[in-house]
Amino acid sequence: MKERLEALRREALDRLEAVADAAALNDLRVEYLGKKGKLTEILRGMGGLSAEERPVIGQVANDVRAAIEEVLANKQEAFDRAETARRLRAETIDVTLPGKAPAIGSLHPLTKVQEEIEDIFLGMGYQIAEGPEVETDYFNFEALNLPKNHPARDMQDSFYITDEILLRTHTSPVQVRTMQAANGKTPVKIICPGKVYRRDDDDATHSFMFQQIEGLVVGPNIRMSDLKGTLLQFVREMYGPQMQIRLRPSFFPFTEPGAEVDVTCAKCGGHGCRMCKHTGWIEILGCGMVHPKVLEHGGYDPTEVSGFAFGMGIERIALLKYEIDDIRHFYSNDLRFLKQFAKM
Ligand code: PHE
Repeated sequence: MKERLEALRREALDRLEAVADAAALNDLRVEYLGKKGKLTEILRGMGGLSAEERPVIGQVANDVRAAIEEVLANKQEAFDRAETARRLRAETIDVTLPGKAPAIGSLHPLTKVQEEIEDIFLGMGYQIAEGPEVETDYFNFEALNLPKNHPARDMQDSFYITDEILLRTHTSPVQVRTMQAANGKTPVKIICPGKVYRRDDDDATHSFMFQQIEGLVVGPNIRMSDLKGTLLQFVREMYGPQMQIRLRPSFFPFTEPGAEVDVTCAKCGGHGCRMCKHTGWIEILGCGMVHPKVLEHGGYDPTEVSGFAFGMGIERIALLKYEIDDIRHFYSNDLRFLKQFAKM
């Protein structure tokens, strides 16, 4: 029996020596030391031993078990260490690798310019108003002193939906809407940004849809000089303190008098270049004193209050600011164009 135990020890230790992984190691543990294992099987024969032999064989059996257990434990530990090392290797993060930058969008240049214009007027105490893009003939034309068949309606070729409803051709309808909502109170001091639509053929300077910002101030003793001072302040904040403006008489049915406003050409500083057609000036907006008939439509008595209004194209302001040569760049969503404004 002693020989069988020794043979078992040798066999087990040899096989343990060659074991390749933790699963095989566990199989050997069961095979040799398990309840139905080889060691137990040999020990079942202990019953047939004499009283003197039994403790001796018992001792040998314990030694064999201890030897196998020790090798098992060592092997197990080695496999555990190898496994930990493997996982550490596999899960290592190289913190020196350059990261993947997330793609960050940016505001559209027109949105930027719009917000910049809004900020300037908010700083002067204006509030921001809104109006519908689908507008009635009354607010878009009639209330602005443009009765049906008025020749000046041709200045703004319109998209009609019905005889009485159209896509607004300018943001000026918000003037009368705002005045009516103010219910006779003064002062009214608003700007209104928004989309407008005209039946133009698209080219470098025209688009069937573009954006305007309307301005309106109504109150007692509002004068032309208030209008001019406001616009000069706006232009200097927008383009720089060296800027000048000039007002040229012009006609809008909803103003009296009306004017067009030019600013110093930013490209040549007023000396004359191709951009300003060698005049030194660039036209940026239309404006004027609110026509008495428009004040009446708004619910005011033109002998008691007066007002000024202006309307500018956001695209035009942006084209000049960034020296862009084609309005269509704003709408084509070409990332090569748009990305140039990401960091501005
Ligand atoms: N609504 C005019 C346009 O679109 C601009 C304007 C607004 C002119 C206010 C005078 C006063 O051309």
